[in-house]
Formats: sequence, structure tokens, C-alpha cells
Amino acid sequence: MKPNHPNRKVLVTGGAGYIGSHACVSLFAAGYQPVVFDNLCNSHARVLERIGEVAGQAPDFIEGDIRDAQALEAVFRSFEPGAVMHFAGLKAVGESVERPHLYQDNNVGGTRVLLDVMQRMGVHSLVFSSSATVYGDPDEVPITEHAPRRATNPYGQTKLDIERLLETLTAKDARWRIACLRYFNPVGAHPSGRMGEDPAGTPNNLMPFIAQVAVGRRERLQVFGNDYDTPDGTGVRDYIHVMDLVQGHVDTLRLLEAGAGLHMINLGTGRGVSVLEMVNAFEAASGRRVPYEVVARRPGDIAACWADASLARERLGWTAERDLPAMCVDTWRWQQQNPRGYAED
Ligand code: NAD
Ligand code: UFG
Repeated sequence: MKPNHPNRKVLVTGGAGYIGSHACVSLFAAGYQPVVFDNLCNSHARVLERIGEVAGQAPDFIEGDIRDAQALEAVFRSFEPGAVMHFAGLKAVGESVERPHLYQDNNVGGTRVLLDVMQRMGVHSLVFSSSATVYGDPDEVPITEHAPRRATNPYGQTKLDIERLLETLTAKDARWRIACLRYFNPVGAHPSGRMGEDPAGTPNNLMPFIAQVAVGRRERLQVFGNDYDTPDGTGVRDYIHVMDLVQGHVDTLRLLEAGAGLHMINLGTGRGVSVLEMVNAFEAASGRRVPYEVVARRPGDIAACWADASLARERLGWTAERDLPAMCVDTWRWQQQNPRGYAED
């Protein structure tokens, strides 16, 4: 995107998904025009109406796969976006262990196609959804962007591969303006209760699982281990409200408008929360009990992970504003009003 000549259209790959859909709301609020490109492999078209309801306008939507160069090129030709927010990807760690080739093909292969098309169409601004998973089991917390990168599963390997791809690209061609935003643990929902996370099947992640227990869809939470070297023995993570996370993306677009280069930036709160702290906070927010049992550790899990978020503050002027009670209250509102997610009104 050129300064003094702002193109307000932003292509949002994976824009029907959890984070991408919330990003659309924040993009509209900041005066941008999101265009959603998504193959709906892990999302529901109904979310687009909900974005419209919440934002006052619905984004254009094209159903398509990022591995399909022709489809992508057609979108660039008709909408002429000035920048891309790239959320499209598969993200289930367990599935990635079973189907590593699918993850390489979809996430890395898909990103290669997207970058080729962007290059051809002369669009060089990209915000990429990376993950704290690129730090693997960290040597120390809080984690700064200089911490060594390592992959501990095929999903994490795809994020690492894409970050390296983007490094090579920016080193070769000075026109690129790229940010890899390394998310810690996104949770929460839009405060309206109309949009939120709607995982297919049994949730892999803590927050949606707790929410489904609280609403009565599941009997009890399994706490994966209470013998970690943490204050209460359960795993510690840096949970970040999705509305804070997507605000960080809008701030990043402004950073990219200011100049070329590659940025690797953590998006987290800088605070670690244990599984049991999360259970307590959710009970307080919902007024419901969240029964749990402690079971064995989940293979591959790490003890503790939280961000040093100072680079985001310096580069973007961004800090997370919403606290743990807000994350729980907003998740609960969404879960209670939409017990089956987007499947029914
Ligand atoms: P999500 O599954 O809700 O959204 C991803 C969207 O991408 C879905 O709508 C899916 O249909 C779409 N998609 C997948 N493959 C596609 C393809 N080949 N072509 C077109 N669309 C495709 O996931 P999310 O939680 O919103 O995550 C968004 C991004 O953020 C992902 O890249 C994920 O790896 C990354 N991330 C997520 C988390 C998290 O905990 N949610 C943490 C770190 C990073
Ligand atoms: N946990 C439970 N019970 C559950 C689910 C999770 O006790 O049913 C615990 C985990 O053991 C961990 C914590 O809750 O201590 C958080 O687990 P999540 O699955 O919600 O999140 P993770 O940090 O394990 O994984 C997330 C993303 C991954 C990403 C990783 C590192 O889901 O995609 O962060 O960035 F790879």
C-alpha cells in the first residue's frame, strides 16, 4: 500500500474463520473494506451475515481455495486490494501429526500460491498469522521475538516454513512489506455475543472446551496434567482477547503503510494464566460450575508460555486492553446465546 494514496481494500484469506471474521469487524471500524476469500473448510457462511449485523456492512465474499491461483487472480483483478491479511490455514496440531502432507500442501503450498499471485498483481503488503508455536518449548519466559525458533509438530513446522519463505522473499525484493504476527492463545468473542469461536467437533483448545462444559454440552473438563513446574502444577498460557488481537492487525496495516520491510511481532498480553485460574475465572464470569478431572499430560504440551509484548508496543503502539474476566464474559455471552455456534440461530 502506498502512503498518501491509500487503497482501503484488504483481501482477508480465511476471513470466515474465528480470527479472520473478527478482523473484518475491526477493519470496517478503521475505515478499511475487507474482501473475504475462504473455502469454508473450517467455517460457516453464516458468519458473513453476522459480520454485517455487527459492523453495519457485510464484506464481499468469494468462496475459494488459496491453492487455486486462477481463483485468487480473479479476486485480485475484480477487487484490486492494496493489502492482504492471510489467516487461511489448517490449525489442528493432532490432525497435523496424522496428515502432515495435507498441512504442508494447504498451509505452505497455499501461501506460496498466494505470494506468487500477489507478486504478479503488484500487491506487496501482507499480514501473516503466525503463532507462538514457532518457539516450541521455550528456553525462557517471557518469550521475545529473538528466542530460537523450533517446530515440535507438523503444524508448527508449516508456520516456521512460511516465516522462512517470507524472510527469503523480503531479502530478495525490497518492495515487500510483511508482518508475521505471532499469536499466543486467542480466546474470547465479539462483545455483541453475535460472533465467536465455533470449533467443529470436540474442541482441541481449553477455552471453547470450558465454555461447552459451562453451557451443558459436555460433562466435564479434562485437565491435562497438574504436575508441571508451574505455581499450581497446570499449564500456563498467555490468553489474548480476539478483539485485542485483531486490533493489532489493523495497527500492523498502518505500520506497513509507512514503509517496506519484514516484521516479526508477538501478540500477547505478557501475562501467564494457568488452567485452574482459567476455570475459576470462567465460573465467576458465567455463574456456572465447570466440573473437571485431572488426567495425564497431553503429549507434546509445554509447561508455560507467555509473551514479551514490548515490541508490539514499540512498533505498533499496541497493547492488549481486555483482561481475563472480559475474555470469559465475552466467551460466555457468545456460548450462551449460540450454544451450537453458527449451526442454528
Ligand atoms: P479458523 O479455522 O477458524 O480459520 C481459518 C479459516 O481458513 C477457515 O475459515 C477455513 O475455512 C479457511 N481455510 C483453511 N484452508 C483454506 C484454504 N486452503 N483456502 C481457503 N480458505 C482456507 O482458524 P483461526 O483460529 O481463525 O486461525 C486463523 C489463523 O491464525 C490460522 O492460520 C491459524 O494457524 C493462526 N493461528 C491461530 C491460533 C488460534 O489459537 N486460533 C493461534 C495461532 C495462530
Ligand atoms: N488443556 C486442558 N484441557 C483441555 C484443553 C487444554 O487441560 O481440554 C490445557 C493444555 O494442557 C494447556 C492449556 O490448557 O496447558 C492450553 O491448551 P490449548 O490447547 O488451548 O492451547 P495450546 O497452548 O496447547 O495450543 C495453542 C494452539 C496451537 C499452538 C499452540 C502454541 O492451539 O495451535 O498454542 O502456539 F500450536
